[in-house]
Amino acid sequence: MDHKRDIFSSRRAAIFAMAGSAIGLGNIWRFPYMVGEHGGAAFILVYLFATVFLSLPIFLSESIIGRRTHLGPYGAMAKLAPGTPWKHVGLLTICSAMIIISFYSVVGGWSVDYLFKAIRLEFLPERSEQVSSMFGSMISNTWLPILCHTAFLGLTAVIVVLGVRKGIERFSKISMPVLFVLIVAIMCYSLSLPGAGEGVAYLVKPDFSRLDASAVASAMGQSFFSLSLGVGTILTYSSHIRKSENLITSGLGTSLFDLLFAILAGFAVMPAVFAAGIEPGAGPGLIFETLPYIFSSMGVQMPVLSSVIAILFFLTILIAALTSSISMLETGVTYLVEEKGLRRRTAVIILFGFTWALGCLCSLSFGPLSGVKLFGKTIFEFCDSLTSDFLMTLGGLLFTLFVGWKMFRADVRDELTSGGLYPANAKIFKFTYFLIRYVAPVVIGVVFVTNLLM
Ligand code: PFF
Repeated sequence: MDHKRDIFSSRRAAIFAMAGSAIGLGNIWRFPYMVGEHGGAAFILVYLFATVFLSLPIFLSESIIGRRTHLGPYGAMAKLAPGTPWKHVGLLTICSAMIIISFYSVVGGWSVDYLFKAIRLEFLPERSEQVSSMFGSMISNTWLPILCHTAFLGLTAVIVVLGVRKGIERFSKISMPVLFVLIVAIMCYSLSLPGAGEGVAYLVKPDFSRLDASAVASAMGQSFFSLSLGVGTILTYSSHIRKSENLITSGLGTSLFDLLFAILAGFAVMPAVFAAGIEPGAGPGLIFETLPYIFSSMGVQMPVLSSVIAILFFLTILIAALTSSISMLETGVTYLVEEKGLRRRTAVIILFGFTWALGCLCSLSFGPLSGVKLFGKTIFEFCDSLTSDFLMTLGGLLFTLFVGWKMFRADVRDELTSGGLYPANAKIFKFTYFLIRYVAPVVIGVVFVTNLLM
């Protein structure tokens, strides 16, 4: 197929783009409430183990496949294993990314609405009674969430139309430093609240009694979700990395940024939650119900500061969600451009239409379609659990099996050392290859099957 391929201009640009994909709602919205539900620091420890021994091998597997071929998931697997069904695995992962972006964009839309609410000073102290109930009435509304979902997906589409270098790279380069500054500012505010110490203790003192099998599976799932694994986005971004770049450094750099951001978000959210005397395991509503309540109740002492923090907080969520959604859309667009020969703009329009429609169904499942159930779940819950509990894990498992058992060992080594350019990587190659070939597939396989049977 005749198309020009962009290459990230530098290692920093590649890491920023991949970290942009990784840092998102998973870090700010999911991580704090999962830590809250599963025993604080004990969960964080398991999460760290899962990241090093399971997520990093998947991350590197995706990077190896992408960079080796400079193609998206479908084309890459078709090229490396011609005449086999592996290319369908590539296609499956692309479909997963399209399902995720559909419901992800609904939550991204909520952050658009909350940003406007914060700007309109709706979280002022005199309204604190209504603030918690605002969320329920907003998401069950028919049109407002759809409008916000459309705006969010539209913004995503505009960045992706501009291309990898002019759109994705440029946006990530600006937004990543901004995100870190914002989350640190919010964390400082949160830590300064009276009673914040308890929230800090909750995050650093492990409670192993709450660490059951489901917490371990959740830690693994959260780590995959947070690093955008198993759905071909890291593979797609890696296909734009230069041959001379060090894949291990970019993998480690991205994971460290992602981890750091999740921990900062934990310290931004939990101390505020404890300061307001709210239950930390409040679930998915934590950032949309609890935090606005905190902003408004704290606003009694510092109305200006708390209004500014509320605006910054929802702006952070919006930017973080956008840098992730562009990576998902790009994965689908790469397929249509490379394999079907479509123009980038046409590919974006087609995928916008599909994900917008599915996203509308997800959005309506909080309101008029709340009675429609698939396997006992609403449409939103079904899409979330199908991808997070099933497809991402399966995709991650298959990527490690592909690199560990289907690709030639010499090719894997060649990618990990960038053709011998990084001799230090050759020293850790054996260990990394062992993780990719045995440890990751066995552990992920066991958790996957156990989850299916439970
Ligand atoms: N890693 C993103 C987050 O933590 O919010 C979510 C995500 C992005 C999942 C991209 C999958 C993906 F392909």
